[in-house]
Amino acid sequence: MPKVIAGNWKMHHGPAETSAFFADFHEAADPGRHRVVIFPPALSVSAAKEHAGSVEIGVQNVHWEPSGAYTGELSAEMSASSGASLVLIGHSERRHIFGETDEEVARKVEAVLRADLEPVVCVGETLEQRRGGALAAVLERQVGAVVSALSHAPAFMIAYEPVWAIGTGETATPQDASQAHGLIRRQLAEGGLAGATTPILYGGSVKPGNAKDLLSAPDVDGVLVGGASLSGADFAAIVHAAS
Ligand code: PGA
Repeated sequence: MPKVIAGNWKMHHGPAETSAFFADFHEAADPGRHRVVIFPPALSVSAAKEHAGSVEIGVQNVHWEPSGAYTGELSAEMSASSGASLVLIGHSERRHIFGETDEEVARKVEAVLRADLEPVVCVGETLEQRRGGALAAVLERQVGAVVSALSHAPAFMIAYEPVWAIGTGETATPQDASQAHGLIRRQLAEGGLAGATTPILYGGSVKPGNAKDLLSAPDVDGVLVGGASLSGADFAAIVHAAS
């Protein structure tokens, strides 16, 4: 099965660094049959499109309205016209730093589909929730919130990103990832979605050194990489780990 290797740059890499990244990446990477995606800051989408080659480009967030008086926001429609083809929705930093709710996440999914873009919906539990035995309940709530919006999606992905593993150097074990992905897959199927074939990505401190183990774990269809996607050479090494 081809894997999905996605990089989330967060608030890093303006247009100049974007061009430099792709020069390094293309020198080292061979995406082969795998799907490779980069989510740069929206201001770098044009530069990314110019240099991306076969790499797909997405944005990290959108507002649910197509246009209007929402200073500082951007819409799914304008993301599409700038060349993005995917959108990250509900990343844990959006949920925890910017207070995004499950209801807003669902509205954003609708907006992304209206603009014919592919949503990548992020879900995951905090350490407190995990320790409190609430893993399944949190995933059920977060996935449950988007099932109806996703019911008419031609294509979508889910990214399981345990909050305690993001940017911390703490990685979920391949078994942790498989367990959570299995729960998500079951819930998608119960909601009438194509649970078996939906790509489910793992994210949280994925590095060149642990990518191979994670990518070979059952039910892990790809990875969503933060910090290690900023270096063209490191990200190329993660792509290589999928082969
Ligand atoms: P990280 O981030 O790889 O730096 O932990 C992952 C993410 O937030 O998508």
